[in-house]
Amino acid sequence: MSDQLPQGATIGILGGGQLGRMLSVAASRLGLRTHVFEPGANPPAGHVADAVTTASYEDHDALAEFAASVDVITYEFENIPTAALDVLQELRPIRPGREALRVSQDRLTEKTFLTDLGLRTAPFADITDADSLAAALEVIGTPAILKTRRFGYDGKGQARILGPEDAAKALEDMRGAPAILEGFVEFSCEVSVIAARSADGSVACFDPGENIHREGILRTTTVPARLSGKQRTDAVLLAAQILNALNYVGVMGVELFVTPQGLLVNEMAPRVHNSGHWTQNGCTIDQFEQHIRAVANWPLGDGSRYADVQMENLIGDDLDRLPELAREADTAIHLYGKGAVKAGRKMGHVNRIIRG
Ligand SMILES: Nc1ncnc2c1ncn2[C@@H]1O[C@H](COP(=O)(O)OP(=O)(O)O)[C@@H](O)[C@H]1O
Ligand SMILES: [Mg+2]
Repeated sequence: MSDQLPQGATIGILGGGQLGRMLSVAASRLGLRTHVFEPGANPPAGHVADAVTTASYEDHDALAEFAASVDVITYEFENIPTAALDVLQELRPIRPGREALRVSQDRLTEKTFLTDLGLRTAPFADITDADSLAAALEVIGTPAILKTRRFGYDGKGQARILGPEDAAKALEDMRGAPAILEGFVEFSCEVSVIAARSADGSVACFDPGENIHREGILRTTTVPARLSGKQRTDAVLLAAQILNALNYVGVMGVELFVTPQGLLVNEMAPRVHNSGHWTQNGCTIDQFEQHIRAVANWPLGDGSRYADVQMENLIGDDLDRLPELAREADTAIHLYGKGAVKAGRKMGHVNRIIRG
């Protein structure tokens, strides 16, 4: 294992959104530099990073130049093209490693990986056409959700099937993309575990947060989640199991459904996660610093929770509430510096300390 990255070393971050931005801020607090690679113009992370490369993931010369300028490479999103990773990997370590990306880029691969580990998920089936969908609906039943295997986020690329009559329209909604059918889980709540693993194999998990989604988008995360002691232990242990199986280095978000029959894994994200933003104001070391520490080969920090917190996403027009939010007591505002407000676009979030 190589040494702890020293002051002035540079972390390369693939993706320049708000997660890359908050990773850059955390890195700078530790005396580390960041270089962001992002195809889009004026990325939120670019406002705070030390350097930005604006180029496409198909531009292999730009990728090679970027890699040569950094000490280690991490990322804020999982859909990095394989060919780009091939170029980068030759030049610098990529943390978390490629196995985590391979598994989490595709919902079918991901669910197969999880069930092979002995973890439980919603019932699922690979869908390639109308016949396989009809056959899967026979077994899984309704309600069910058809999802594209790749590139889905914030509930995009999903269609609900309440009865067999919805099947044809749902398949049409996939626009020919490979898909997976999932049985609808009657969960009592959704929680997520933000877990970290360092190169020496230490694992640390933040306290699970309880998530409320609206229209497929995360609205709030609240800690502590309403979980029994056993459920909390189960949640943390299963997250650790996933990280160990992948020989993972960095922070991962694991989304879970809580049901009377136990915990089901919904999905995992090999990166810092929106449902972990509360850690910025509830823990000594937040998820962003924890990720930077792991990637930079530092020891993991103390992520124990010292406050009850509710994180609320500011989506689209929510930003109009900024004057009132700025006057609220016990409320920390985190804005992403995004120019255009669009419906469904994450503009920022607030963390409210909950006092009993
Ligand atoms: N099988 C399912 N059963 C019940 N609800 C689901 C299921 N799959 C997804 N959902 C709901 O939709 C939300 C978004 O789905 P998810 O698979 O996490 O996709 P995304 O990648 O868009 O976050 C989940 O957080 C959950 O509220
Ligand atoms: Mg999700």
